[in-house]
Amino acid sequence: MSTLISITNTSLLVGAPQPATLRAPEIEPGVGCDFDSYLLVPDTSLDERIAAARAKLGRDVVILGHHYQRDEVVKFADFRGDSLRLSYQAAEAEGRYIVFCGVHFMAESADILRREHQAVILPDLNAGCSMADMADIGQVEGCWSELASLGDLKVIPITYMNSTAAIKSFTGEHSGAVCTSSNAAAVMRWAYGRGEKVLFLPDEHLGRNTAFRMGIPLDQMIVWDPYEELGGNTPEQIHAARVILWKGYCSVHQRFTPRHIERARREHPGIRVIVHPECRFEVTQAADQIGSTEGIIKAITASPAGSKWAVGTEIHLVNRLSKELPDHLVMSLDSSVCVCTTMFRITPQHLLWALDNLVAGNVVNRISVDERTRHFARVALDRMLSLR
Ligand code: 13P
Ligand code: SF4
Repeated sequence: MSTLISITNTSLLVGAPQPATLRAPEIEPGVGCDFDSYLLVPDTSLDERIAAARAKLGRDVVILGHHYQRDEVVKFADFRGDSLRLSYQAAEAEGRYIVFCGVHFMAESADILRREHQAVILPDLNAGCSMADMADIGQVEGCWSELASLGDLKVIPITYMNSTAAIKSFTGEHSGAVCTSSNAAAVMRWAYGRGEKVLFLPDEHLGRNTAFRMGIPLDQMIVWDPYEELGGNTPEQIHAARVILWKGYCSVHQRFTPRHIERARREHPGIRVIVHPECRFEVTQAADQIGSTEGIIKAITASPAGSKWAVGTEIHLVNRLSKELPDHLVMSLDSSVCVCTTMFRITPQHLLWALDNLVAGNVVNRISVDERTRHFARVALDRMLSLR
């Protein structure tokens, strides 16, 4: 009883936002360096070649894959997970090379957590995250100075994993922490043990949904627009607020609306609706359940055969669940395809190219966070990881 939506419209990828934090690939001359030639590798031989390169590298390489990756890539992952699980895996990985099939901020976090002898590789440097790009370090520092000009407000910054290493470092340096969608409430509770207000970066929706579920009323939350003076707020509003929400969002999750939920319930009586906490407040309120990617997988997998689910998250995860659970109905909440175009940039060709280069002794597309940024970003990540 599965409901699959296939992604054939590759024009969806054209014009996808380019992350501001990309660095030029560090390509050294050698066998297999030219990526363009990999575009010509026939689909029929890709699997075999990836498996062969993987086998040659043996324990030297660990492949990590986020749940939003396409099937042709994620099937090669040694560890599959959400960003929290993958950050534990990165911290504990044994291999010399960590090949991260995910997006730029995830590979940066792996680079911050890696051991000295390891290198982190992102198979396509264009795999960014439009939400992470919505909080620029200069803007965040500007916000912090404006808040400081209002007196001693005792603000603790929390940044979602989906942010640049510079923002993570900023939070570490200012007594804050990182969170993911799986542990945002625990990190917020931790923050309120240390300060009076939370500055939540960069996802407005995750911050609001988490704070509301912790019992903080909406009228004690304000939104900080980095393009407005005082974020578009009065000094009085800032003094009264308990949560300051950065004006950022995920373009994939923000698409879901309460109308999608009404339609799913109308067309499939008895269906349960589960949505990612990056969805708008009205959507999370109308849904039956909220779950991070791991939370969504657990809830649906644990439900009895015959259960019906409408899911508000990225389509690759929804389709995979639908395929893996043929006795359930698992469908996307929005029938027009909700693909994360930047996750989709990692192709089997990119993975093969990165692995072939490692076999040839070339580390391509290495993600490397500078030492100062790494130091405080690690502080912020360790605070999160200690709340396990
Ligand atoms: P998770 O923290 O659930 O892995 O989500 C990451 C993400 O990018 C969701 O859009
Ligand atoms: Fe970023 Fe949204 Fe893609 Fe997640 S789904 S990586 S938040 S753009």
